Amino acid sequence: MKNFISRGFPYHRGRRLRTRDNIRDMVSETDLKASDLVMPYFVREEKDHPQVSKPLGLRRHTITELLKKLEYSVKYGVKTIALFPVVLDEKKSDKAEESFNKKNLICRAIKSINREFPGITTICDIALDSYTLSGHDGIIDSDGKIKNDSTLDVLSKMAMNFAEAGCSIVAPSDMMDGRIKLIRENLETKGLHNTLILSYSSKFCSNFYSPFRDILGSKKNLGQSKKHSYQIDFRNRREAIKESLEDISEGADIIMVKPAGYYLDIIRDLRERCLIPIAAFQVSGEYYLIKNAADNDLINLKDCVLESLSCIKRSGADIIFSYFSNQVAEWLNQ
Ligand code: PBG
Repeated sequence: MKNFISRGFPYHRGRRLRTRDNIRDMVSETDLKASDLVMPYFVREEKDHPQVSKPLGLRRHTITELLKKLEYSVKYGVKTIALFPVVLDEKKSDKAEESFNKKNLICRAIKSINREFPGITTICDIALDSYTLSGHDGIIDSDGKIKNDSTLDVLSKMAMNFAEAGCSIVAPSDMMDGRIKLIRENLETKGLHNTLILSYSSKFCSNFYSPFRDILGSKKNLGQSKKHSYQIDFRNRREAIKESLEDISEGADIIMVKPAGYYLDIIRDLRERCLIPIAAFQVSGEYYLIKNAADNDLINLKDCVLESLSCIKRSGADIIFSYFSNQVAEWLNQ
């Protein structure tokens, strides 16, 4: 491309390639497929509320409701799902012990899914925020600081718990240092050689997670507290690349950039610097920006969703997490 010499117009008329659908399709460089997509699901206990008043839209599913929803996912070809638990307040604690309870909500969900839908790949979030009273992803010391090394032990116990329950991919989203190495070593020791690690490796301290935290119920616990001491500053590009490269060397099978839409430069940088698959997460705030604009007839939902996901893929992502995944797979089938 650097040596590109143009003889210019009219030898070059870029529009020739855009004259008809057939040609546009033939020369299109990006192909969005249902198998690229991951559908995130929030799982709740029977006695918990299905929906929070704000934001409306994304629901929390009981395991029974989730199994029904999976029929829809599978029908249109979404075979990979990410699970996020809505943990009852009474089960939250300072040290997040519920996360490694063998009978916790996620372990029960994994077992039911594997029984009913053996072809589905489950991705389980590894972070403490669903389980801690603080709403933070790590354990807090008496001085009020997030303790990296004592958090690692809990994260690893949690990852082993889900892997032993039968989840295919564990996905640490906590941004503690050294967790990929420890989880990889412990999976190997336990003979869980085929459990994949998808690291939320370039995870930014983004303001676009707040609807997710509302749905999860961690927002009220978090209060005014921020995740700046572990998630990456959104002004930093080199640091985000470094974090992903470190996680690859620690044993990640797949890395992730999150959020997606405002971080396409990071996806592209990583695509050029590493050989392993890259996932991108179109997060809850990104979802609601599009959804609310479309609900208010400002933009067309289908066109804008397909554009947003195609551009994430074009930037270099192989796998896309999106709350639109089911809907997109249905559109792609039409
Ligand atoms: C948990 C986690 C978060 C998201 C995914 N895993 C929230 C956070 O880090 O505070 C956000 C996903 C979304 O906004 O859709 N650590």
